[in-house]
Amino acid sequence: MIITVTLNAAIDKTLAVPNFRLGRRHRAVEQTAMAGGKGVNVARALKALGQPVIATGVAGGPTGTRIIEQLTDEAILNDFVRIHEESRTSTAVVDPTSGEQTEINERGPALTEVELELFVDKLLYLAKGAGVCVISGSLPHGVDSGLYARLVEGMRRLGVTTVLDCEGEPLRQATRAQPDVVTPNEVEAEELVGHEFADDEDRRVAVGEMVELGARQAVMTLPDGCLGLLGDDSDATDPRRLLRVTLDPLEPVSAVGSGDAFLAGFVAARYGGRSTEDCLRFAVACGAESTQHFGAGVLDPRGVERLQEEIELKEVGAQSPQVAR
Ligand SMILES: Nc1ncnc2c1ncn2[C@@H]1O[C@H](COP(=O)(O)OP(=O)(O)OP(=O)(O)O)[C@@H](O)[C@H]1O
Ligand SMILES: [Mg+2]
Repeated sequence: MIITVTLNAAIDKTLAVPNFRLGRRHRAVEQTAMAGGKGVNVARALKALGQPVIATGVAGGPTGTRIIEQLTDEAILNDFVRIHEESRTSTAVVDPTSGEQTEINERGPALTEVELELFVDKLLYLAKGAGVCVISGSLPHGVDSGLYARLVEGMRRLGVTTVLDCEGEPLRQATRAQPDVVTPNEVEAEELVGHEFADDEDRRVAVGEMVELGARQAVMTLPDGCLGLLGDDSDATDPRRLLRVTLDPLEPVSAVGSGDAFLAGFVAARYGGRSTEDCLRFAVACGAESTQHFGAGVLDPRGVERLQEEIELKEVGAQSPQVAR
């Protein structure tokens, strides 16, 4: 079983508003609302890929009830802790005339200490039957930025593989806790290693630095694919290989959540015991395919198969196991 953690679950509302202008009154020509938040999107994509997944996290108030009902309607297994404050609604306005997208994310609920501990207990319980735990997205405000580090440590004690996709201080602290994989995008990676990237050499160095900071393996998503430093964890003498995966960008219908679909692809392939190369290839194909659909985490596995054939992968370096810890 794969677990996804979403501590900022939301109802993601998308409104199509032609000629959207600030300060005017508009009428939406189309609207959709679906359960969201990064981990929920990853769970949706994993379900579409036929993987056994359970979404956990916290949800509160009528919006929280709606999140859980929508997940259940989509037949995505879920087990959330109910909290007192109301879960957030995130609103995206898409202007079909310009293609521009404006997003407004509510602040989201605060958690009490008791609610947080109930969640940690639930996750540790679920983890007893899990192989992989995906920890992604932001923390609710007021929650200690070391929480993800604590979850990574808890998962390791239970022998569960951790895949981490977050940013800022929670990412920095959780990377030090030695997660199995971190998957930041370029901007998040710059913040993590503490410098900006001017060229590919900087990017290659940065994935090495992410491993030096504590991650066993590191993957940086890029607009045209990804760069991954991965090795065979079961073999201590195996060097980590640096692989660059590229795919020509597609004309997107909606690129929202492509990082979540990427993550789902990576986890699905890894959970299925596929090779390092296949994991990255499959991840890039999933990220790209998801841009062809409205709705975060929505993807078509047949489209993913087709795209895989267009992906290029090359080895661009290696890191010896001694250097890599
Ligand atoms: N237009 C596109 N065509 C093909 N692939 C795309 C396109 N946009 C994004 N992708 C792919 O999706 C993956 C994730 O992209 P990105 O780095 O934008 O993630 P992200 O910033 O984490 O996104 P998210 O907002 O979902 O967190 C990458 O592998 C990228 O190649
Ligand atoms: Mg992302």
